Amino acid sequence: MPNIVLVGAQWGDEGKGRVVDLIADKVDVVTRYQGGSNAGHTIVINGETIVLHHIPSGILRQGRLSVIGNGVVVDPGVLLEEIERLRSAGYVVHEENLKLSDRAHVVMPYHKEIDLAREDAMGGTRIGTTGRGIGPVYEDKIARRGIKISDLIDRGTLEKRLRSSLEERNLYLTRVLDRNPIDFEAVFAEYLEYGEKLRPFVTDTTKLLNDLISQRKSILFEGAQGVLLDVDFGTYPYVTSSNSGSGGACTGTGVGPTNIDHVFGVAKAYTTRVGEGPFPSELSGELGLKLREWGGEYGSTTGRPRRCGWFDSVGVKYSARINGISGLALTKLDVLSSFDEIKVCVGYLCDGEMISDFPSNSEVLKRCTPVYEEMDGWKEDLSVVREPSDLPIQAMAYIEKIEETTGVPVNIVSIGASRERVVYLKELFS
Ligand code: IMP
Repeated sequence: MPNIVLVGAQWGDEGKGRVVDLIADKVDVVTRYQGGSNAGHTIVINGETIVLHHIPSGILRQGRLSVIGNGVVVDPGVLLEEIERLRSAGYVVHEENLKLSDRAHVVMPYHKEIDLAREDAMGGTRIGTTGRGIGPVYEDKIARRGIKISDLIDRGTLEKRLRSSLEERNLYLTRVLDRNPIDFEAVFAEYLEYGEKLRPFVTDTTKLLNDLISQRKSILFEGAQGVLLDVDFGTYPYVTSSNSGSGGACTGTGVGPTNIDHVFGVAKAYTTRVGEGPFPSELSGELGLKLREWGGEYGSTTGRPRRCGWFDSVGVKYSARINGISGLALTKLDVLSSFDEIKVCVGYLCDGEMISDFPSNSEVLKRCTPVYEEMDGWKEDLSVVREPSDLPIQAMAYIEKIEETTGVPVNIVSIGASRERVVYLKELFS
């Protein structure tokens, strides 16, 4: 198997965890490269729902190595809880099958406090973050005052770096955000203990991954969030604070681009978004509520209701272009089964002009209205479908419309949450 990057082609929650779980069977290693506990990858196995925040979904396949790369921001308390939850569900998690980068940055309590306080203070201009401290921890990384996993497992370094970071961040919390300061001693003690618990998993994952590539092992790079939330390419400022696109796979793992063979995209058969920001094909009325209920569209990390709308080919075509996506997995096609008519957004009308390219400015995108092509629904239960030939002709026409308007072949279609509810339309990596 080649080395593959898997990205979400929309605003996150496309069902990446589920697709990773399918492909993980065919690779040796699954690595996360960005994001942190803002992600919630949901997988249903034998009727049991498992939500992963930091650990790659490959952990659910026996014999696969799971790696948390340097680009991930780790909330140690959440990660330890995740390990425990997996263990109590009967999965094997130990230092042989889970590795944590010594270069990954650590989410500290003040990051979460700042995230929440800022969102409160912003009122109507808030981003709608997950409140997990993601923006503030990446800010500290870039500002060179962050704390890395390698600092967490070294008492002297942790003390020094926490003291100087906290001094500065407490000033910000108290003077700018009008919050209480955070106590050094309590955080120091708590995080020293986390460091001790995580120590067995910590390694130089850049060396590990490159050594494995030299041994011809195959790696799946699991993106979190979606390309339209990428800090460079997404609907800025309504984005997350990392590179969720395929470029992040290199900077977030230390594997060079010459070692990556394919980029695979995951897109929902419709569109969802959590938090604020433009969303041209959003359905605000009854249809949107139906999609939310039928699709169970509530955030797996925060439980927030997701905004829902029709499939937006303009956004997915753009995602495909800037990420080099060569194939798509189309998820949750079954959710559309009850509609008489289904729409695909194929362009935008913006300031009186028809456009088919995704605007780089969110203010422009806010003014765009969708131009739709209407398709017949199939109104058939898809749960029995196993082969492409079992798909209703209207469903096939819908898939072909998506291929035509995004310019990307659809290789896999999912028609339900469990592992077997999948139809392979084309060879995955030819
Ligand atoms: P943050 O990543 O918590 O800073 O949130 C920034 C934006 O990204 C908000 O609109 C969030 O709702 C969105 N976001 C972050 N993580 C996810 C995710 O895993 N799925 C969908 N949206 C997300």
